[in-house]
Amino acid sequence: MDVMEALLARKSTPPRLMSSDGPSADEVRQFLTAAVTAPDHGSVRPWRFVVIEGDNRTKLGQVFADALKARDPGASAEAVAKELGRPLRAPTVIAVLARIVPDHPKAPEVEQIVATACAAQNVMLAAETKGYGAIMLTGQNARDPHVKKFFDLNPTDEIVAFIYIGRPSGPVPDKPRPDPAQFIEAFGAGA
Ligand SMILES: Cc1cc2nc3c(=O)[nH]c(=O)nc-3n(C[C@H](O)[C@H](O)[C@H](O)COP(=O)(O)O)c2cc1C
Repeated sequence: MDVMEALLARKSTPPRLMSSDGPSADEVRQFLTAAVTAPDHGSVRPWRFVVIEGDNRTKLGQVFADALKARDPGASAEAVAKELGRPLRAPTVIAVLARIVPDHPKAPEVEQIVATACAAQNVMLAAETKGYGAIMLTGQNARDPHVKKFFDLNPTDEIVAFIYIGRPSGPVPDKPRPDPAQFIEAFGAGA
C-alpha cells in the first residue's frame, strides 16, 4: 500500500471487530522493525515492547483484575470479570513502554514519550498495512502502579499504550475525519 494511501485510510479497529487471526512472529518482528525507525532525539531509544499472546493474555488479565481490586476493593464481580477478559479480545497485544532516562542532556522526558508514541504509531501503521486491525487502548491500567510494577517500570517510566492487533472479522466502518483547516493557527497569534 502507498504510504499516503495508508495514512489517509488509517482507522482503529475496535477489539469487538477483531478475529482470532493474529500476526505471525515474523510479522510482529516486521512491525517492531518499523517501530524502531521512529524519530528519537539523542538516540535514547526509550521504547520497549512486550508482545503478549496466547496464555500470557490470561495472565495480563489477572494483573488488570488485581489492579482493579487494589484500586477499588469493592469492585463488582462484573467489573473484575471485564478486566480478566480485557486482553483476550485480540490475539496479540503489544505493550509499548517508555523507559525514561531522567535528566538526559538532550531529550527531556516529554520528548522520550513522544519518541515512544511515534514508535507505537509505526506499529499501528505497519500492522494495518499488512491487513490487520489495530487499536491503542490504555484506560486506568496504563497508569496503575500495580500494572507498572508487573512490567518492572520505574515511577518515571510510562505505559504509552497497549496495542491490540487482530485480523478484522468484517468491515470496519470509516470514520468522518475533521477538516485540518480547523487546527491551523496563524503564526504569531500571541505576539
Ligand atoms: C495513547 C492512546 C490511548 C487510548 N486509549 C483508549 C482507551 O483506553 N479507550 C478508548 O476507547 N480509546 C482509546 N484511545 C482512542 C482509540 O485508540 C482510537 O484512536 C479512537 O477510538 C478513535 O479511532 P480512530 O483512531 O480510528 O480515529 C486511545 C488513543 C491513544 C492515542
